[in-house]
Amino acid sequence: MRKKIVAGNWKMNNDLTQTEALLNDLRKQRKTSFAEVMVAPTFTNLWHAYEALRKADIEVIAQNMHFAENGAYTGEISASMLKTVGVNTVILGHSERRAYFYETEEMLAKKVDTALAHKMRVIFCFGEELKDRKSENHFNIVESQIKGSLFHLKAEDWKSIVLAYEPVWAIGTGETASPEQAQEMHAFIRKTIASAYGEEIAQNVSILYGGSVKPDNAAEIFSKPDVDGGLIGGASLKAGDFFAIVNAI
Ligand code: 13P
Repeated sequence: MRKKIVAGNWKMNNDLTQTEALLNDLRKQRKTSFAEVMVAPTFTNLWHAYEALRKADIEVIAQNMHFAENGAYTGEISASMLKTVGVNTVILGHSERRAYFYETEEMLAKKVDTALAHKMRVIFCFGEELKDRKSENHFNIVESQIKGSLFHLKAEDWKSIVLAYEPVWAIGTGETASPEQAQEMHAFIRKTIASAYGEEIAQNVSILYGGSVKPDNAAEIFSKPDVDGGLIGGASLKAGDFFAIVNAI
């Protein structure tokens, strides 16, 4: 059965002092939840977060990594570096990585392969821009993003893949996809996977929604049958809001 997951993507927010305060709040406010809970601090705070949350049943995950094993890639972070600080899950393909750091489908396919070779779980992000939705090209865009980076995988690899549909126009804008728009796209994604890998794999992959999920809209979005949780940006920076979203599942 597919898992329910709520992951907080802290992006480039929170220095060490702010991270400590948030980790403290998370520890204090953590209650048992139906969903798996994850947070993605910035690289410099991963080890600290891992140590702080190891007994709180909150997984610490990374926001990105490089595809190479090691070498002359100034400023980059490898899979084994992440694993040695307790990280076993990585977000790949976030629209901010695609837009500002020119990550391509091919590059992301390599990153996915490296993560899987290191037995890491991948939260693979994708989603259309506003212009694509306006021109009714959003299904094509999403299909090509998934196919371009994931359809070379073997059936068994899908056990380590979580998908995150994040329409770019809904990220950090306060404008969220309606629960119906999210459901429609998630059902389409599942159908696309079923067409290549069969119904069982498609039914077992968790598909998260991301883009302006807040405590007051989470329950309605999560109530849709193909929405298995959320990838939360802004609202994950306050423990109270984040757990309100976690509890909305
Ligand atoms: P917001 O929740 O701030 O819109 O960000 C969503 C996101 O990009 C999570 O990865």
